[in-house]
Amino acid sequence: MKTSSLCKILLATSLAAWLPIEVLAAPPAGAPTITIAADKVKAKVSPTLYGLMTEEINFAYEGGIYGELLRNRTFEGERGLAYNADEPIYWAAVGGAELSLDGGKPLNDRLNLSMKLDAKGASESHPVGISNPGFWGVPITPNTSYTVSFFAKTEGKSRPITVALAKADGTVITSATTLGSSPGDGWAKFVLKLTTGQVAASKDNVFTLTTTTPGNLWLQQVSLFGPTYKDRPNGNRRDLMEMLAGMKPTFLRLPGGNYLEGDTFGQRFDWKKTIGATEARPGHRSPWNYWSTDGLGLLEYLQWCEDLKMEPVLAVFAGYALNGEHVSSPEELAPYIQDALDEIEYVTGDVSTKWGIQRAKDGHPAPLALHYVEIGNEDLFDRSGSYDKRFSAFYRAIKAKYPQLQLISTAAATATPSQTPDLVDEHLYAWTEAEMYDHVNDYDQRPRNGPKVFVGEWATHDGWPMPTMKAALGDAAYLTGLERNSDLVVMSSYAPLLANVSHVGGPSRNNSMQWPINLIGYDTLKSFGTPSYYVLKMFADTKGDVVLESSGSEIPQWTVGDKTRPSLFWVATRNDTTHHIQLKLVNRASTAQPLHVVLSGVKSVASKGTLTVLDADNPDAVNSVGDPTHVAPKTETVSGLSRDFTRTLPAYSVTVLDFAAG
Ligand code: AHR
Repeated sequence: MKTSSLCKILLATSLAAWLPIEVLAAPPAGAPTITIAADKVKAKVSPTLYGLMTEEINFAYEGGIYGELLRNRTFEGERGLAYNADEPIYWAAVGGAELSLDGGKPLNDRLNLSMKLDAKGASESHPVGISNPGFWGVPITPNTSYTVSFFAKTEGKSRPITVALAKADGTVITSATTLGSSPGDGWAKFVLKLTTGQVAASKDNVFTLTTTTPGNLWLQQVSLFGPTYKDRPNGNRRDLMEMLAGMKPTFLRLPGGNYLEGDTFGQRFDWKKTIGATEARPGHRSPWNYWSTDGLGLLEYLQWCEDLKMEPVLAVFAGYALNGEHVSSPEELAPYIQDALDEIEYVTGDVSTKWGIQRAKDGHPAPLALHYVEIGNEDLFDRSGSYDKRFSAFYRAIKAKYPQLQLISTAAATATPSQTPDLVDEHLYAWTEAEMYDHVNDYDQRPRNGPKVFVGEWATHDGWPMPTMKAALGDAAYLTGLERNSDLVVMSSYAPLLANVSHVGGPSRNNSMQWPINLIGYDTLKSFGTPSYYVLKMFADTKGDVVLESSGSEIPQWTVGDKTRPSLFWVATRNDTTHHIQLKLVNRASTAQPLHVVLSGVKSVASKGTLTVLDADNPDAVNSVGDPTHVAPKTETVSGLSRDFTRTLPAYSVTVLDFAAG
């Protein structure tokens, strides 16, 4: 068979089938060519290029990664918000109980509002109490152990209390009762285990707490945890942590985002109120309009980092809230700067320091490594014009005590003329896929003599509520630009990271999402990675050590409206230990694309390589709770590679080809 006929057959096959693994013998006329100069290193790939950004948004912690399964466990939730709930919201009466919020019987000065449960009419045959629907359901899985805890006190005689997991119709699946030490008239903490047997996994369940003794009962911090990652008490949900571990992140930017700043000073992330026993944390309202118990507080962030072998990128409150409230004189700034210094000491100080001692008391004697501190969040939007003063004051105080730290500004370097930052955090939300392609070369021409760049939030917006394959193509193209420039862009993190997709687009009080387009979605039981998640995983899995020089010719173009852009994007890197080359390719075209690859500067190329492809026949394809891997990468061995080979990229695809060359 003549080569050209073979090409035609293979090309036809590739157009019909989803993945043409054969390598074409010769490039079809006009095929784009990528030439990789394997002996020419363009830049080092930053070891910290891929990390995570997180904040309390979209029920990312409460109802998300934080393992608490009950909603509004401290009864503060949503009080004083727009809809001014003065009832124990998300809790319902069982058996005719009368429920109210009582400020007269505080557990302590932090959790000073208790649930008063008047169990009138309770009897052995008629339990009375409360139920909680969790975060759009309570997950029940087979052969699982749950931990229930609560504080309780009664009026007069003590009484047994029963806790249970039940189906929505009230059918009890598992229950346990406080016997022996039942609540009396002083506050006491109770911990019980609930265990399931061979039941089907489900989420349309409720938690109940009931008594068969009439009279008043006061409750606080009523909590339910399932299994947590690494079995940490007060820990994180396993499936979500496993998905994050799969991304091989090197850092966690915390605690935000807008969540750091709060709408007002009083609603900022006030880290000192988020440490210690969880019942000593008052909680606070998030700027995303719901309550955080702060059960996931500063120490839990650090444990999250430790569990995934990441370093924190610690963002410190810098005297500016989202409503424009700010401070900027040295006297006004002093307490906030001190708070930041204390926070750094809490993370890094040994047990001879005040805040290192506190961390040890909180259960973590070992200090953590910290290299980056970010001052504020998105201060390019600072309406007060005070960032220069604030940034320079924080910068100098932190550097004086911790000269080794790299300090990140959240506005362009020109916005802080009094003090050059070490890094600048630049955010990029591309509101369409096409717009993202305009940013692929953002850093190609950026002078290298200024601050390094941290792209601390970025994403391609396409789809609702979660990103489509189209968005993933934009993301992958953008990442080729970040990798290519990773001598300058030393860190990046997609945002937002997590979203509870249980209830999107309903009345605002009960929405589970405040921001569309997020990396990982879930309900209380199941989770899924979006196509963008898989792109990030593929890129991090095959991150090289150095970027190789490469060039392209006959690059196909794609026209939207009156604008023409390339439809093929790539970056070539090399792992210096394995001597493997990673060629990352994005084909945005709606048709399969034959591609000619030429390598110079190497004596040989192994004929076999590893091919990972993420593709979809429909650019609008998405993943969901019901179909979590509709779009997912497939990996296989490909053969026929050489210093000059041709292969076909599927339509709408992201490909990573990894092969040995020397
Ligand atoms: O990622 C969502 C929000 O976008 C962040 O909280 C904020 O920093 C940005 O404006």
